[in-house]
Amino acid sequence: MDEKSQPTDIQNYYQDRSLFLTGVSGFLGKALLEKLLRSCPKIGTINVLIRPKSGFDPGSRLRTIFQSPIFDLLKSQNPGALNKVRAIGGDITLPHLGISEDDRRHLTETVSVVIHSAASVKFNEPIKVALNINYHGTARILELCHEMPLLTSFVHVSTAYSNCDLEHVPEKIVPSTVRPEDIDALSDEDAVKLTPALIGDKPNTYTFTKSLAENLLRKEGAQLPITIVRPSIIGAAWQEPQPGYVDSTCGVTGVMAASGKGFLTCMCGDGASVADVIPLDVTANLIIAAGYDIAQTRSLDIPVYNCCTGPVNPVTYGKIWDYTLEQYEEATPLNGVLRYPSLTFRVSLLRFHLINFLCTFLPCLAADTVAYLGGGKVKMMRAYRRLINSVVVYHYFASNQWSFESSNLERLNQRLSPADKNIFFTNVNEMEWRSYIRNYARGIKTWIFKEDANDVEEARKRMLRMYWIQKVLLMVTISILWSYAVRPLMFLFVSHV
Ligand SMILES: NC(=O)c1ccc[n+]([C@@H]2O[C@H](COP(=O)([O-])OP(=O)(O)OC[C@H]3O[C@@H](n4cnc5c(N)ncnc54)[C@H](OP(=O)(O)O)[C@@H]3O)[C@@H](O)[C@H]2O)c1
Repeated sequence: MDEKSQPTDIQNYYQDRSLFLTGVSGFLGKALLEKLLRSCPKIGTINVLIRPKSGFDPGSRLRTIFQSPIFDLLKSQNPGALNKVRAIGGDITLPHLGISEDDRRHLTETVSVVIHSAASVKFNEPIKVALNINYHGTARILELCHEMPLLTSFVHVSTAYSNCDLEHVPEKIVPSTVRPEDIDALSDEDAVKLTPALIGDKPNTYTFTKSLAENLLRKEGAQLPITIVRPSIIGAAWQEPQPGYVDSTCGVTGVMAASGKGFLTCMCGDGASVADVIPLDVTANLIIAAGYDIAQTRSLDIPVYNCCTGPVNPVTYGKIWDYTLEQYEEATPLNGVLRYPSLTFRVSLLRFHLINFLCTFLPCLAADTVAYLGGGKVKMMRAYRRLINSVVVYHYFASNQWSFESSNLERLNQRLSPADKNIFFTNVNEMEWRSYIRNYARGIKTWIFKEDANDVEEARKRMLRMYWIQKVLLMVTISILWSYAVRPLMFLFVSHV
């Protein structure tokens, strides 16, 4: 905010308010925290729930979070802003969130905005684990919200795919027929066995438990100012804090990264399907704007925002890959590519596995054998297995497409002032995919692989070398096949006729 300019409605709303956020160590949570601190400089205290992890207490984890490059711009503009953030130790899987009595009292007495983004985003988490984090975790947040007399808004982050069993996804909570208590009553073993029957037409436990959490909000949050934001596939930042910023390899990013390195050459999915990628900054902006809006306009139904690009500005997986390759070929090739990057799509899982077996598994096996015999490190087969396991879970999403209703975002934009629309932009219809994806691919080089995007000479030379090696290998293979297989067969055929 310009020091002299008048605060906007949204900035006014967040001014001096005390917030409670979950999930701030995650991809989206960090972006949300950064945007709140940068664009609402007069915000009050932001209390963030962080669990102790790997021997690090919440305070030291918060300091590590602040070392992320996503905060560089904020630190240069307003270094004192980070002092507004207060770590609250806790864990959404524990009773009462595992928060101390004192912290709970502090939160209930001061907080007026809650944003719940923490979740397990692992698609195939065992059902009871996913239920405990995504459903019961939300129940525990809801329980806390009920104790907050000052609460004016509660934004719950769900997913656009919580109803992916429907072709047309409305901006409404779709009733679930499964009762979470029935799953709680099952033994771990039975729950695993019964998972396919329980999740029904949903593809995994993630989408299933996210949908149950939405149902819970409708059932038990009637008196609260709740709104739900459902992002589709969150991709790199479009504009802020830096174009192309990305620090998570989930989803499309992992495919772009692995194929950019020449490791993945065949993806399971349909190149002609719409890839509903929504930029990180747009998602954070919508969450902040929706939080403001629910405090102004209470409605009987919980407002739900499908936070997507497909309805207004669709792009296909094939195009995303074309633009990625363009960036890596022309401007910022990745260091140490294993092959010249290329990517094809196969809807059939059988073909996907067959192609990867021939084109990646066998070379990995050969590389590991050579390494083993030479006393070196054997690592390619493990990397291959991890790669295949991580992309195969996207098959369902990359081979189907959905029609997402998105009129609530449009309506919200009509209510926002021009200044707010400018600061908390969500106008994805103005996104130009080619430049967005090219920045995204550059962002992968910079923030995922931590390579210098301005020093690309070596990378370029290696990519060219790989190109010619592959061409020569192809020619040699064709000549061997011709000499020892095709020609003898033709000869045999002709001599028998
Ligand atoms: N990324 C996407 O493409 C996408 C798309 C649609 C919707 N979403 C939704 O957006 C939200 C954020 O996703 P993300 O991509 O940022 O995920 P992420 O990077 O995996 O972050 C998940 C966050 O949740 C926290 N968390 C998990 N279990 C917790 C627990 N038991 N107690 C406290 N905190 C816990 C994690 O903390 P730790 O660091 O302690 O693990 C982390 O901060 C989720 O609700 C997700 O469903 C994401």
